[in-house]
Amino acid sequence: MKSYIIKTFGCQMNEHDSEVLAGMLEAVGYRSTEDTSTADLVLLNTCCIRETAENKVFSYLGRLKRQKLSNPAMIIGVCGCMPQQEGMAARLRQLFPYVDLVFGTHNVQQLPVFIGRILAERKPVVEILTEPAEIIEGLPAVRKEGLRAWVTIMHGCDNYCTYCIVPYVRGRERSRKPDDIIREMPGLGSEGFKEVVLLGQNVNSYGKDLTPPLDFAGLLEKLDGVSSIERIRYMTSHPRDFNEKLILTIARLGKVCEHFHLPVQSGSSRILEKMHRGYTREHYLGLIEKIRLHIPKATITTDIMVGFPGEENDDFRATMDLVSQVRFDSSYTFVYNARPGTPAAGMAEQVPEEIKKQRIQALIKLQNTISLENNKAEEGSWQEVLVEGERNNASGLVYGKSRGYKTVVFPGDKTLIGSTAHVTITRAHLAYLEGSLKN
Ligand code: SAH
Ligand code: SF4
Ligand code: F3S
Repeated sequence: MKSYIIKTFGCQMNEHDSEVLAGMLEAVGYRSTEDTSTADLVLLNTCCIRETAENKVFSYLGRLKRQKLSNPAMIIGVCGCMPQQEGMAARLRQLFPYVDLVFGTHNVQQLPVFIGRILAERKPVVEILTEPAEIIEGLPAVRKEGLRAWVTIMHGCDNYCTYCIVPYVRGRERSRKPDDIIREMPGLGSEGFKEVVLLGQNVNSYGKDLTPPLDFAGLLEKLDGVSSIERIRYMTSHPRDFNEKLILTIARLGKVCEHFHLPVQSGSSRILEKMHRGYTREHYLGLIEKIRLHIPKATITTDIMVGFPGEENDDFRATMDLVSQVRFDSSYTFVYNARPGTPAAGMAEQVPEEIKKQRIQALIKLQNTISLENNKAEEGSWQEVLVEGERNNASGLVYGKSRGYKTVVFPGDKTLIGSTAHVTITRAHLAYLEGSLKN
């Protein structure tokens, strides 16, 4: 039997693609290993959203050189978003001549064929499709997380935010048919999954390309009726397309969790326009107001970027002010990084690194204060926690997520794993809540 390692960088879409890559490998007789010195195949599923993501891939590939020397039969592959950029496949082969296989995001399903070719011909394979083909259904997946199943509902992104590389490396938006998605559900239930996370770069665009059309609210409605699944989450949603109908649908449907991850990026309408986000600060604040009106206990999280070209002190202050006003439960914060080929990379007024650094530090400090205060406000409440595992192996503590996607830790044993516990919150921390089983 041959062995493989898949090392995944980047977002959940990539994590799930890796589960499919693993599924295909296991279908042709490979088994997973942790040991790079003996593996027959090491595949890197890569990300290029920021330069730091690419640097991680470069240094990993650098470290593999020694292993390749001592185990020359090992196949080293690079796939995912990075080689999908123009010129990158050639650059990778030039920098790391011991890489045997390079393919992109549109030909994932060909992995077994590529490996067959390398083994038969003993020469490298580089295959990048520039255009996505039809969505291929029915590929096997080996899912890593025990209770949470990631399910792609749409591929690609048509938004072309001016800083973002994703539309260039993931192709145009394509929705999976609702029947194909629903057909996947009973199998997940019987494998023991309790929660599905619906994945897309902008799930609110779901269904625009389908005949007959079905919007995201309609899809949620259908999935809420599937008996094998207990909880439904989704990511990522776009504030431009998130309407009241969807909020009301989420409020009504019992399985869809009350967690809203709504990346705002900036609190300044002027910067939002330059980013091509398609909404203003006022629209965003109005949306938050509607969510709080219909679902008062909703958890709201976001992505924020500092240092976009032309961001002045006033723009940054507007972001800080918006964070104070919305009081996000948590934020993913990023320093803007120019991506070659995107419009923002060519904009004048790039912000100096030193200023970006000061801004991100101030932002993180503010967010941490608010996150802790919000968590403290949950002390004394009770939460429905889907128990995922034991903390630090048999410490007498278990952990899981609340419906609002906060980590909750409480005394209990492994018999609770997979069940939904009602937990009273006794103590809040920045990154998690402590509690005890409700009597
Ligand atoms: N589709 C999602 C986000 C995908 S990327 C959405 O539209 O919200 C995840 C986050 O990375 C983005 O929300 C953004 O904050 C950040 N990001 C994207 N491109 C970036 C860049 N060039 N520099 C810094 N951060 C970036
Ligand atoms: Fe990138 Fe914007 Fe698409 Fe998100 S919506 S993936 S930020 S282009
Ligand atoms: Fe990275 Fe590609 Fe996701 S660039 S963030 S892995 S879509």
